[in-house]
Amino acid sequence: MPSVFIKTYGCQMNERDSEAVAAQLVAKGYTLAASEATADVILLNTCSVRDAAEQKAYGKMQSLAAEVRRHRPNVVLGFMGCMAQSRGQELIDKLPDVDLVIGTQKFHRAADYLEDIFAGRRSKVCDTDEEKGSEATIREHILAGNAQTKSVTAFVSIMQGCNQHCTFCIVPYTRGSERSRTIADIAAECRDLVSRGVKEVTLLGQIVTSYGKREIGARDGKSAFVQLVEAVHEIEGLERIRFTSPHPKGYGDDLVEAYGRLPKLCESAHIPVQSGSDRMLKSMHRGYTRERFVTIVEKLRRVRPKIGLTTDIIAGFPGETEDDFEQTLSLVREVRFDNAFVFKYSKRKDTPAAAMPEQISQALIEERHAKLLGLVNEIGAAKCQAFVGQCVQILVEGPSRRNLARLEGRTRCNKIVVFEGSDRHRGKLLDLKIERASLFTLYGDPAILQ
Ligand code: 5AD
Repeated sequence: MPSVFIKTYGCQMNERDSEAVAAQLVAKGYTLAASEATADVILLNTCSVRDAAEQKAYGKMQSLAAEVRRHRPNVVLGFMGCMAQSRGQELIDKLPDVDLVIGTQKFHRAADYLEDIFAGRRSKVCDTDEEKGSEATIREHILAGNAQTKSVTAFVSIMQGCNQHCTFCIVPYTRGSERSRTIADIAAECRDLVSRGVKEVTLLGQIVTSYGKREIGARDGKSAFVQLVEAVHEIEGLERIRFTSPHPKGYGDDLVEAYGRLPKLCESAHIPVQSGSDRMLKSMHRGYTRERFVTIVEKLRRVRPKIGLTTDIIAGFPGETEDDFEQTLSLVREVRFDNAFVFKYSKRKDTPAAAMPEQISQALIEERHAKLLGLVNEIGAAKCQAFVGQCVQILVEGPSRRNLARLEGRTRCNKIVVFEGSDRHRGKLLDLKIERASLFTLYGDPAILQ
């Protein structure tokens, strides 16, 4: 059977989609190639959220086409995911070496389409159609069976799409409108993962706080999302629950209260704020004010004082004045995020912001981005440093990415901790003393290892 290599760009949802496609192909007898150099099928799972991400994948495909085709003309080349969805047939027209384009609602058809191509039934396949029920098709996982590689953590997709229509964002066009899986279906997937050794699940969606709004609805003052978290929380053997990404307007009191009530729900939240200026938030169509955002943070810190908070911020959104930008800086100083992803505003096809008249010059975007990043890093490093001398509990995930001789895990508040342990610690909850900290990583003292 052929071998496949999937390269993933973008968010955790894309990582998860790639994993599910890989699992689907492995079930059909494909092997996973260690690199593109030896693969019979090379798939790029793409991101459209910023232009740079699209350019990266496009450039990669161009070089693959040039290199691979020269030596191995039969290799199948394909695009999947968001850029496949938004550009479709155009990708094959522009890059004729591309054989396959699979949109965001068609991942589950990957094996069928490859079979069509290998059998010579079709030479090119492009499918970016909508498909009813596609939100429930991403469920297979690859969890290697032996103790050395067994996954301790897993991502679980709970919904697809987003109806928020922030004016900068391409996601409603690439992922479609919100569709949620059932609680029973998601809980069954989580139970299966736990029975295979997983200790921590991260519930994934483009706007998880809108989970099940239409399909399930609120009950006893609890949103469908909180009902889902409760159902997952009941799974015996599961130690930790995380989720990403929520929307600030979805942080109702029911969710804040859930942090206090459900011990498996880790005290960590990635809450994208985008800007500290009410004028910008309005123009972005975010649906909350700076004050509302700060109130959510205060409430969360009241329930869980040690909660780890991260965010996304866009620098240089159209119309952003010096004053607006200053307000973002002041919000970052006020909230003191543990970390923030700072993005340079990027014009996206068909989004309302792309047509706004007051576009900011690239030079100014770069300048504001650098300034914001400097501040975020300064605060993040100080917050990391504050862990030195403290005891934390980590879930040990496996060898450290930087240094395979060491192990790493994450605190409940989502900080990575590297320590000298052994493989028997994998999958265990361990209490460690933090010895030192670098910019965003903590180093644990092995002395008090149990
Ligand atoms: N330009 C820059 N950043 C963007 N994001 C989404 N769309 C854009 C854009 N057009 C950022 C937002 C979002 C994160 C996933 O990507 O901050 O939260």
